[in-house]
Amino acid sequence: MSGRRSPSTFTIRTFGCQMNEHDSEKMSRLLLDMGLRPAGDSIPADLVIINTCSVRAKPEHKALSEAGRYQSARRHRGTLVLLTGCVAQQEGQKLLKKVDYLDAVLGPDAIGRLPDIVSRLSRGQGPLLDVQLHTRSEPRFINVDPPLRAGPKALVTIMKGCDNFCSYCIVPYVRGREVSRPAGDILREVESLARAGCREVTLLGQNVNSYHDARGTGFAQLLRALNEQAAVERIRFTSSHPRDVDEQMIAVVAECQRVCEHVHLGLQSGSDSVLRRMNRGYRGDEFLDKALRLRQVVPQIAITTDIIVGFPGENESDFQRTLAIVEQVRFDQAYSFKYSPRPLTAAARWPDDVPAEIKTERLERLQLLISECEQERLSLQVGSRQQVLVEGTSIRDSQAWRGRTRSNQVVNFSSNGRLLPGQLVEVEIVEVRGHTLWGRMLDNG
Ligand code: 5AD
Ligand code: SF4
Repeated sequence: MSGRRSPSTFTIRTFGCQMNEHDSEKMSRLLLDMGLRPAGDSIPADLVIINTCSVRAKPEHKALSEAGRYQSARRHRGTLVLLTGCVAQQEGQKLLKKVDYLDAVLGPDAIGRLPDIVSRLSRGQGPLLDVQLHTRSEPRFINVDPPLRAGPKALVTIMKGCDNFCSYCIVPYVRGREVSRPAGDILREVESLARAGCREVTLLGQNVNSYHDARGTGFAQLLRALNEQAAVERIRFTSSHPRDVDEQMIAVVAECQRVCEHVHLGLQSGSDSVLRRMNRGYRGDEFLDKALRLRQVVPQIAITTDIIVGFPGENESDFQRTLAIVEQVRFDQAYSFKYSPRPLTAAARWPDDVPAEIKTERLERLQLLISECEQERLSLQVGSRQQVLVEGTSIRDSQAWRGRTRSNQVVNFSSNGRLLPGQLVEVEIVEVRGHTLWGRMLDNG
């Protein structure tokens, strides 16, 4: 299509994990710097980005049908439709051939080239494909300037890619090799976010606890450096690999006052034979030991997890092992999924032999237990005082405020005065309603 005019408004639709959410933020900043502005809800945008996830089959379908919604705007108004992220990386050229309403297919590492891509599309070039991934020798982290005014919470990339090759997981194929961002750049970004008003950062990576930059800074050291820098009040990180949880990491969470008491540790399965076939690098009892050790050293810690049911060859007694570990760890929150074979992965070559109705049944049993644990962990907080970072007004009750505890639980609470997002207050937890804590702010908060 030639003679296209430059887009002046944009919309980004994001699927998948926090990594994708953060990639969308980076794209948004780059587009703002180019002079584009976000389209209002009612007005169709000139440029639409669908940032996709391919970790399971469902999000992939959702993303493609989302792109389809813009077909007519593209035809009638010349809206540019860009598919980015993990599905784009995975399908690349095939997508451009198969789907005729896309102007560009861009992998996660094309983000830094977005300004050039948009200006080429405005000049009538396209459809464009850019699925070039970073390499170890050229890690290409994007240092985008933080906004002048940041919100209370921000995501900060500390590493990208993954070298674990869990046999079910597509991430190493779509996000490339594991590379760590230089600690100096991370510290600088956190400093400028803090100057812009941010109070809490979440350090992001597929496997944050194997972080090590070219100068030899490890994850525990990075956390200590950020704690000492004292720019933000709260430091979080996600995700951690159970295999890489060690005493150093546990000590940092226990000792560094700004490092929040929360770890997300994917269990995936409790069965040793399933874990072996998943290539996870630990046994069920090792996971359990580490989780219990974390709870022993950091009693207030919240442990959250991801679990897959119906992995190839998983039988009832394997599944019972998963239930047994959940029963013992009593996760604060757990996301559970039915196994879905992903292209390129090792497990995709094995028969997906757990029948759909058994996957459904196991998922239901697991979710029942998880829900019981979540409820129990929330109830333990009733009567306690929690430090809460105010995020805004409550979604359920506009008279109440909403924020998160250090262990990342949402709290709705009453207060006598007006509050501003970004304030840190003390809240007494009064009750659990549904899956949410309710409390009241203490005067000296
Ligand atoms: N099938 C089902 N769940 C998966 N996950 C990753 N790959 C698959 C797959 N092929 C889950 C894992 C991971 C989370 C992000 O998604 O539990 O931790
Ligand atoms: Fe989805 Fe994984 Fe890509 Fe995140 S990294 S968007 S979870 S496939």
